[in-house]
Amino acid sequence: MSATAGDIAFTKLGGVMAIAVEGLDLHHAPDAELAKTLRRALLDNLVLCIRGQSIGPGAYLATIATFGEPLVRPEIPHVSGYPAVTTLSSDDRDTKGDGKRLIAGSHWHSDDTFMAKPCSLTCLYGIEVPDTGGDTEFANMYAAYEALPPAERRHLDTLRVVHMMKPASRAVGRTRTIAPELLAARPPVVHPLVRTHPETGRKALYISRNRMDHIVDMEIAAGHQLIDDLVAHATQPQFCYRHKWRRGDIVIWDDRCTMHKANGDYPEGARRFMNRIIVAGDAPY
Ligand code: SIN
Repeated sequence: MSATAGDIAFTKLGGVMAIAVEGLDLHHAPDAELAKTLRRALLDNLVLCIRGQSIGPGAYLATIATFGEPLVRPEIPHVSGYPAVTTLSSDDRDTKGDGKRLIAGSHWHSDDTFMAKPCSLTCLYGIEVPDTGGDTEFANMYAAYEALPPAERRHLDTLRVVHMMKPASRAVGRTRTIAPELLAARPPVVHPLVRTHPETGRKALYISRNRMDHIVDMEIAAGHQLIDDLVAHATQPQFCYRHKWRRGDIVIWDDRCTMHKANGDYPEGARRFMNRIIVAGDAPY
């Protein structure tokens, strides 16, 4: 049995991106028609929130598999028996580093840009969410790109950026400490600063500051300044949406045209527990 389009209702969440869908029971994975409807909603709105779920990791994985191939990230803790379903928890500590509390993704970024083929989508399922704080913020990188003057867009279109799991040229926000052998297995990759979305054909800024080592053929400090300026530009309120989590939300976002940021501002002792799945993507162009 599959979940069907039936009585679902969509509600726009933000002015510039994000839509919620209610009336779905994902104990059964979406059928082909529903999967197509959800994908269209995601492509048009960049962030899709499926409300009110209460499912296990198997049903979650089966649903996300209708969007694409789930990927395994071996360095992130996962649900026992489900290597592609990783966990994000208020109890997370940097166990390979200083042992301190870790808020994964607390800086503006797009996921896994250090890969030659970075993930296309990220999915977070809010199993426990705090009463206050812990929002996830999103920036619409199509809108940020399109708002730039034409001459600047033409210049940015020519630039290429070296991405690394751990950039050598500067220390940026705090991230999980990665075992040296895993770092060694991830050589630097080069991606365009502006990418063309393979499904919509639209151009978007492609930025993940914590993974960007330098801009090719540009003096290092000047490249860092340009990236910082673009992050400041893209994260202005008119390009952003802030998701306030409800328990049971499954939020899926398109990493090819958004940045996002976790907030660790919930009270000490409050629980936030998410299951995360990433979906395979293509080499950016
Ligand atoms: C992430 O960066 O994937 C996590 C976002 C969040 O926990 O809000």
